[in-house]
Amino acid sequence: MNSYWIDSMPNIDNFKPLDKNMDTEVCIIGAGIFGLSCAYYLTKLGFKVTVLEKFKIARKTTGHTTAKITSQHGLFYDYLIHSYDESFAKSYLEANEKAILNIKNIVREENIKCDFEIQKAYVYTVNESEVQNIKNEVDSLNNIGFPAKFVTKLNLPFEIKGAIQFENQAQFHPLKYVYGLCDCITKRGGKIFTDTTVVDVKTDGDLYLTYTKDFIVKSKYVILASHYPFLNIPGFYFTKMYQSTSYVISVDTKKPLFDGMYISCDVPSFSYRTAKFGDKKLLLLGGASHKTGQFVDYANSYGILENEAKKLYPDSEILYRWDTRDCITLDKIPYIGNFSNTMPNLYIATGFNKWGMTSSNVAANVVTDKICRKDNEYAFVFDSTRVHPIKNRDEVKNILTQSVNSLFIDKIKTNYSDFDSISNDSGSIIEINGQKVGIYKDSSGNLFAVNPICTHLGCLLSWNDADKTWDCPCHGSRFNYMGKNIYDPAFKDLEIYNL
Ligand code: FES
Repeated sequence: MNSYWIDSMPNIDNFKPLDKNMDTEVCIIGAGIFGLSCAYYLTKLGFKVTVLEKFKIARKTTGHTTAKITSQHGLFYDYLIHSYDESFAKSYLEANEKAILNIKNIVREENIKCDFEIQKAYVYTVNESEVQNIKNEVDSLNNIGFPAKFVTKLNLPFEIKGAIQFENQAQFHPLKYVYGLCDCITKRGGKIFTDTTVVDVKTDGDLYLTYTKDFIVKSKYVILASHYPFLNIPGFYFTKMYQSTSYVISVDTKKPLFDGMYISCDVPSFSYRTAKFGDKKLLLLGGASHKTGQFVDYANSYGILENEAKKLYPDSEILYRWDTRDCITLDKIPYIGNFSNTMPNLYIATGFNKWGMTSSNVAANVVTDKICRKDNEYAFVFDSTRVHPIKNRDEVKNILTQSVNSLFIDKIKTNYSDFDSISNDSGSIIEINGQKVGIYKDSSGNLFAVNPICTHLGCLLSWNDADKTWDCPCHGSRFNYMGKNIYDPAFKDLEIYNL
């Protein structure tokens, strides 16, 4: 199902596919909030910019976010101080606080009507055992000069044990914001092409050639702004990120709703905010995260959120349900900057760890400064080519184990479902004459069969019964039940079998 953001902006996308070869200064691959923020800043500086988008504008992570604009990234600053030092944590915080102001200024200067609202943000707990962690986070923030507050009461309709309050954070309608950026970009001569899949980027002397299926864009600079980098080598980002899936429902209730943005640090974790819906408010409730590619059914995804909504608002009516994907880095800090040390003028930002509304603005400023050969005081925090001692050994082990299982061990397993055990409106992998086949039976029993091997690097796919998709447990690519690729890093569709 479409997100509320996408559904509330019908038929607005008038961009066309690329229909000829082009020369430009900066080629941006991906029209989500990061790519469009880069295009906004660069066209404002007079650069000739071309944006290539595989689908429509902002239809992936940007169109499925909860759209909180905040420097409050869970319980994070105590971790940064202990993993790095106070000055590093302060720079991360300042970069994100500045991003909130940047977005506020863009909205005001460009007169973008995007329901932008200043809000307070909270991380809270309902468990006594987490209170000390909350207090430690508040102390760490105060030590680096940020006026975070410890509070014990919230506007939410339940009691809590403690929370951290950040003032002057914000929320908006992300699609309205990025379409506002598109207007600014095109008015300043930037070109935006949708339904245009990039399949490769190659060097040509000092320039880059960006290949779509049918045409070539020649440019001095390239910015990889797709959700997950589709170029594997030399960046090797697929060895240092995984994807997480989470779910959001939007709820209508007759009960009065609250102001503020909230996320719990408990398990399960829930996220709350409201959004304008005509002349009233909708509740957006998020959570139920899991590593992409793990089997999940409705009860353990949307079901968790629906139960929570009914508990808090018994009259609640669920208007929208959607899921979202986020790239998670091993040290919880985004990768922003050069794609690799061997490819000058090729830039990237990825791994926003679920905080992409703010991080995308940080990233757009870092990358714009790099193109302008200007120092950026925060670039060192996010250095995409960093090679630090690994701080998150468990996650590295998980990524390696998952990749080995999906690439090798699962492929030689023989205990797959048999055909008759697949119920209608569900899917599974079966074996036919020694060949693995991904089967989906629709609600009338019609069959759709695919080769369940990911077209990125060949991992065995898993069936996602909540969203009726084939998901890759290695790096999070996703395909619909007919094999069409809908999430990168893969960009090719699955092979289809006729049964
Ligand atoms: Fe990398 Fe599937 S996403 S192998």
